[in-house]
Amino acid sequence: MGKVYVFDHPLIQHKLTYIRDKSTGTKEFRELVDEVASLMAFEITRDLPLQEVNVETPVCEATSKVLAGKKLGIVPILRAGLGMTEGILKLIPAAKVGHVGLYRDPETLKPIEYYVKLPRDVEERDFIVVDPMLATGGSAVEAINSLKKRGATSIRFMCLVAAPEGVEVMQEAHPDVDIYIAALDEKLNDHGYIVPGLGDAGDRLYGTK
Ligand code: PRP
Ligand code: URA
Repeated sequence: MGKVYVFDHPLIQHKLTYIRDKSTGTKEFRELVDEVASLMAFEITRDLPLQEVNVETPVCEATSKVLAGKKLGIVPILRAGLGMTEGILKLIPAAKVGHVGLYRDPETLKPIEYYVKLPRDVEERDFIVVDPMLATGGSAVEAINSLKKRGATSIRFMCLVAAPEGVEVMQEAHPDVDIYIAALDEKLNDHGYIVPGLGDAGDRLYGTK
């Protein structure tokens, strides 16, 4: 079963409070999501493998470390996942970025796929799929299905706020995928919104609605 990691770093928790606040406007919301995505990228990359290399400092020859292992791929789920992408790329600028476009049908809450574009060397990358929200879990499950169908074998999922229902659905559908979140909330409401949540992430990021 996929593990669930909650990033309880004080800076992440502090900024998340202002992201949740309904009086936070679009500009500030976008900036905060970007900052939290960077902080989460710092945490999620903690276990990346390193290899030793030689380096000549101004003082002497030394042995030091650089990143080793598979190359990274970031896959935002459109639209709201885009709000986290630049923040992650600030820390991992060489990562390639794929996109999976999905929206939830407002009646059925089922995800409808409308776009997929991934890096060509899918099998050779460690992927981080990102979306601010894991609600029913339908979108994350579908996006990861899409990646696996195209050959991805190493996938993690990162989001800001998750509902227990979504975590369960993800663990059932993709037991090989670990989940990294800033907060595990209480529940979903009758409209499939996370409670307390932060509202509609896409609308708040882009000022629609
Ligand atoms: C939101 C959110 C997730 C999805 C989560 O996207 O960004 O992708 O809902 O819900 P789920 O876990 O129940 O599938 P939305 O469908 O509103 O599309 P948008 O990002 O284009 O606004
Ligand atoms: N999508 C959102 O943007 N917010 C929720 O609370 C649930 C799904």
